[in-house]
Amino acid sequence: MSHSSNQAGGERIDVASHHSTESPADYMASQRPHRLWVLNYYRSVDTHDHSNTLSLHVQTHTGRFEDLPLITDMPHPVDSWRSFMSRACNYGPMFRFMLNDNEAIWLNDASLMRAVLKAPFSQIGIGPLIGGFESAGGLGHALTVNYSSSWRPRHKILQHPLTHKGVRALGPLLQESLRSSIVAWNPNESFDPNTKMTSLILDALGATLFAGDHREFIDVIHAFDVERNLAFVRISQDPAYVPSDREQFAVALSNLDQFIYSMIAIRRQTPKDDLLSNILSATEADKEVLSDLNLRDEVVGLIYAGHKTTANTLAFASYLLAQHPEVQRSLASQVAPIAGAHDFHERFERAAPLASAIISETLRLFPVGDLMDRTVIDSFALDGVELPVGLPILFSSWVPHHASDVFENPEDFSPARCESGWTAAVQKESYLPFSTGPKVCLGVHLASYEAAMAISLVVEQWSLSQNDSRPLNLVHDPLLYADPWPLLNLQPR
Ligand code: HEM
Repeated sequence: MSHSSNQAGGERIDVASHHSTESPADYMASQRPHRLWVLNYYRSVDTHDHSNTLSLHVQTHTGRFEDLPLITDMPHPVDSWRSFMSRACNYGPMFRFMLNDNEAIWLNDASLMRAVLKAPFSQIGIGPLIGGFESAGGLGHALTVNYSSSWRPRHKILQHPLTHKGVRALGPLLQESLRSSIVAWNPNESFDPNTKMTSLILDALGATLFAGDHREFIDVIHAFDVERNLAFVRISQDPAYVPSDREQFAVALSNLDQFIYSMIAIRRQTPKDDLLSNILSATEADKEVLSDLNLRDEVVGLIYAGHKTTANTLAFASYLLAQHPEVQRSLASQVAPIAGAHDFHERFERAAPLASAIISETLRLFPVGDLMDRTVIDSFALDGVELPVGLPILFSSWVPHHASDVFENPEDFSPARCESGWTAAVQKESYLPFSTGPKVCLGVHLASYEAAMAISLVVEQWSLSQNDSRPLNLVHDPLLYADPWPLLNLQPR
């Protein structure tokens, strides 16, 4: 076996010249368990690249931060996500790299990711990426960016209406909104799945938050989205840029605020069976915790955390179903006995378990909120390495989700593998589409239920096919998406 040193004390193993009888897998198995990840990821993130060139880097860190590999020429993980990810696999479970001229650390190992995600806020706080995205303005101090002492009471309040049971109580609203939009789609139309799913989910989120009063919401959010996206671009070029200096941004934000404050006032007077009323009733015990300003921030936070995430997931799921007509046919046959039922929302999970499996498997292959980041606040050691205070920590759930010793043929779309939940402990450990620890997605029940119902209602009406042979070009803003989205076709079922 030929060994050569890498630049930071690590050991490079060139598997192409690995002539001993020991297989790469045996060799890696003899290393510390978490190093096994390296073998899993020898293929590039480009799912069309099936080259088998194994060039593994095994880290032999000494427990000192300075001895971790330092990779000085990594591209930016958001701006050049694909190229970052295809290189990141080469440098061991954790390595140092430069993020906008500051040193940061990247993790490739699920157990290290979990250790960071589960750490208390006194040790691990908000990361530079999410902090930077939020500075585009408009979100206020919502849960997603809250790592302070007010996080716990607010989290508790919002958690209540978003439990498994709380979300199912929203079933009739969701069903009505989703079905009425889906039925109105045009037959034989070529469509970009993301545009379609974004408007589907925005409407459904509006309907669940503000039952019966959400038409204006769609326009207000749309106008604000346009301005916010512009602000993201400007801020990434010029961090000193202040979005509200632009009049259109200020107007869009003020319209959004007006709408949400008026809805809060209306629901305080006349509650309905919607999410906003349920949040308000959860706050009644402690009015001080959620003032109208706090409530406004949390509602805007839910809209932003819950809208593009679910829409992108459904866009990927539609793309995968169009590529796999056999899976689509199986789902359609599960849905057929309850097609058109007024109580579809109560029955589809039992009748069509494949729908949830399709969403789980879509989120394994395309975890839309894959990129997570934190900052070391106080003394924190990872795998025996003491990390310096102020250090940004970044990682992506994409890496463990595509690990071949965890998931057999990881690039294959195979909902069957998760039909009865992830079977092995290592799969549960490696599956992180909704994060874990205190900041675990608060909308996990809503997102899973809504996405499974939506995909079931799509195949109730339509058959999806591909109209575009271009490979998927994956890119990133804060979320994973495709650019361009491959076009799909709709035929009535
Ligand atoms: C498929 C859809 C979704 C995905 C993949 C997703 C993913 C995530 C992830 C990965 C995080 C944690 C990020 C981190 O640890 O830094 C998160 C947090 C969060 N998500 Fe989701 N999400 C989805 C849908 C939703 C929905 C529908 C809602 C609510 C309407 C929601 C509300 C939240 C909130 C409030 C947080 C912050 C929780 C806290 O900080 O306490 N998400 N989500």
